[in-house]
Amino acid sequence: MNRPEQPVIGESPAFLGVLEEVSRAAALNRPVLIVGERGTGKEVIAERLHFLSPRWDQPLVKVNCAAISESLLESELFGHEAGAFTDASRQRAGRFERADGGTLFLDELASTSLAVQEKILRVIEYGQFERLGSTRMLEVDVRLVGASNVDLPELARQGRFRADLLDRLAFDVITLPPLRERREDILPLAEHFAMRMTRELGRELFAGFGEAAIAAMLDQPWPGNVRELKNVVERAVYRLPEPQAPVDEIEFDPFASPWRPGRPSGARDRLPDPAHEPVDLRAWLDAQEKRLVEAALKASGSHQGKAAERLGLSYDQLRGILRKHGIGRGRTATQSD
Ligand SMILES: Nc1ncnc2c1ncn2[C@@H]1O[C@H](COP(=O)(O)OP(=O)(O)OP(=O)(O)O)[C@@H](O)[C@H]1O
Ligand SMILES: [Mg+2]
Repeated sequence: MNRPEQPVIGESPAFLGVLEEVSRAAALNRPVLIVGERGTGKEVIAERLHFLSPRWDQPLVKVNCAAISESLLESELFGHEAGAFTDASRQRAGRFERADGGTLFLDELASTSLAVQEKILRVIEYGQFERLGSTRMLEVDVRLVGASNVDLPELARQGRFRADLLDRLAFDVITLPPLRERREDILPLAEHFAMRMTRELGRELFAGFGEAAIAAMLDQPWPGNVRELKNVVERAVYRLPEPQAPVDEIEFDPFASPWRPGRPSGARDRLPDPAHEPVDLRAWLDAQEKRLVEAALKASGSHQGKAAERLGLSYDQLRGILRKHGIGRGRTATQSD
């Protein structure tokens, strides 16, 4: 049974453009490649593509090619006959057979071996393959959707991905923009994840995000994209000191702790020793000041008033230091909300 389609949130022009491409591609019975940084929603988009296609009521079968060892991937995809290899006690249909009539989503496509790529290419070209340990040709009608967060043309140039397979898969390439390039999506996504977490916790109401939290979220580069935003928001909601209060503080780094273990202490943590080396006291103090201020801002979700408090400074003193180091330029001050 297919899971019901999950909601797809986004209203930025870049994301709406992607949704349009998806609708267009869905109607056609051709392979599609979905590329984008980690956590940008490639799987979400693959699902949407399937449910908008004429195959929507047929199986959507997903395989994460990176999660299965190279030797097992082949039998996972194409199936095997009894005795085909040591552990193959019974005959087993592969995912291509199970996806017959529907869509096969090959996630993390770059992790496949050249041998598996060759077999995939044959299914695309002729719709045919053999189970491992069999010479009988099987025919399937499967639409392939692949996903990758690495640059496949570059891998093909290096000989690590078959260029002919890439050509076939790349009939239509849908590229998901990173979250930092579609800031209009940040708040709708954050609201969505916060409401879902609120429901999951059995709470009645989500009181929204405070101004500082909103500014901090809009300011983040989000290297882990939507998945990172989801985790950060869910954690903030779950950790709310008072469930009825709005989210004011956002902790971006779940590992942030004064007791964080095993962090290699670099040279910058070392106290220089003027007995053995020349020391530039002013530069060293400045560097420490900058580090501590940045850490305090991060811990306060970029709320400058709270960061000043953490550092035992007045708000104006902190502003002076921020100006000196050019931190947070171009941002509005978030003294209170
Ligand atoms: N537009 C969106 N609307 C709602 N939820 C989304 C959206 N995009 C991503 N998500 C959610 O963010 C998380 C990451 O999405 P997904 O797994 O599709 O990303 P991905 O690009 O496949 O990541 P990876 O490269 O790490 O596999 C999931 O929990 C997904 O439900
Ligand atoms: Mg994925």
